[in-house]
Amino acid sequence: MELLEQIQAIVKDAAEALAAAKDAAAVEAVRAKTIGRNGSFTALGPLMGKVPPEDKPKMGRAFNEAKQELAKLLEEAKDRVAASEGADPAKMLDVTLPGRKAPAGRKHPLTQTMEECCNIFRRMGFVATSGPEIEKVFNNFDALNAPADHPSRSAQDTFYFEDGRLLRSHTSPVQVRTMLSKKPPVRIVAPGRCFRRDTPDATHGVHFHQIEGLYIDTNVSMADLKSTLLAFASEFFGPDIKVRMRPSFFPFTEPSVECDFTCVMCGGKGCPVCKNSGWIECAGAGMVNPNVLRNVGYDPETCQGFAFGMGIYRLTMINIALRTFVFSLKTTSGSWNSSEERQVNYENLIELAFRLCGCEYRSHGACCDPDPRRNRSGRN
Ligand code: PHE
Repeated sequence: MELLEQIQAIVKDAAEALAAAKDAAAVEAVRAKTIGRNGSFTALGPLMGKVPPEDKPKMGRAFNEAKQELAKLLEEAKDRVAASEGADPAKMLDVTLPGRKAPAGRKHPLTQTMEECCNIFRRMGFVATSGPEIEKVFNNFDALNAPADHPSRSAQDTFYFEDGRLLRSHTSPVQVRTMLSKKPPVRIVAPGRCFRRDTPDATHGVHFHQIEGLYIDTNVSMADLKSTLLAFASEFFGPDIKVRMRPSFFPFTEPSVECDFTCVMCGGKGCPVCKNSGWIECAGAGMVNPNVLRNVGYDPETCQGFAFGMGIYRLTMINIALRTFVFSLKTTSGSWNSSEERQVNYENLIELAFRLCGCEYRSHGACCDPDPRRNRSGRN
């Protein structure tokens, strides 16, 4: 066969083989057979030297053109099979690869606080309970010694449904539900969401979280209430915490108190977090009013108990601020000299805590708003 025909035949065969090639291996086989070291086209190279001088330009051009043509055909075939292999799901899926982990989220700071509180109370023998957010008016108010005309109802104004039910304004109805379904002794905590009517703005919302506590037995006193809250606070905040009680009013407790814990930021010395009082208000509490016991069928002559309601937002804020404070103390130890410097850092911490937890904290009195009228709904 003439050299020129051989060249053309190689290109033609290669073009056909490449058109039929289904994968990279088939393309590679054509490359090896033609322009590979022992390929048919490579073998023609030495023969070119033997071409008579008059034919050399023509043959040389044909040889080079064929070489370029082969390179082009191979490249195109390579791209084509690569694209089709990529589109084949069976080839794309490598079942031997380790699985991809979904990024692990983490619990919301409020959930963390609620769980932490429940765990602490559980160790003291309290059972974690829950109740519905949509409540009967009886459980939310009447049974708790706040009949329809009671002025305390307006302080906890909330949202009513057409059927007369409401969005609970505190977690205290869980007390009623528990006592209605169980004889004393009772020892429960009930964390959850509550609602009150408020005009929404940047620092006021319509819901917040509380944790309710109830302990009914034969011999329960204010001393038990105080020691329980103290035990809680020392576990939640740290060992040097003190509890202070101030007289207050709730229709469902008698006597009623507001409970303050030592400000964990300044240890009671006074700082912007506690508005220089050294104390942080954390709970409403008191001895369960005998009327409440009667309303649920308990005999106030044979049993009595205490109840408390703590604001989760405030506990969360303090806890986050505290952890951040401890962290920054550790990382800047040695450089905290003047009290002014500490003041500045406290403020940064408060800001940081608000930023981390959202502005809802401010709406429930956890902020340093010096105007007490803004906290008129009496939330913790
Ligand atoms: N339920 C009260 C409130 O929301 C708090 C409280 C609970 C007070 C239990 C006394 C006893 O403000």
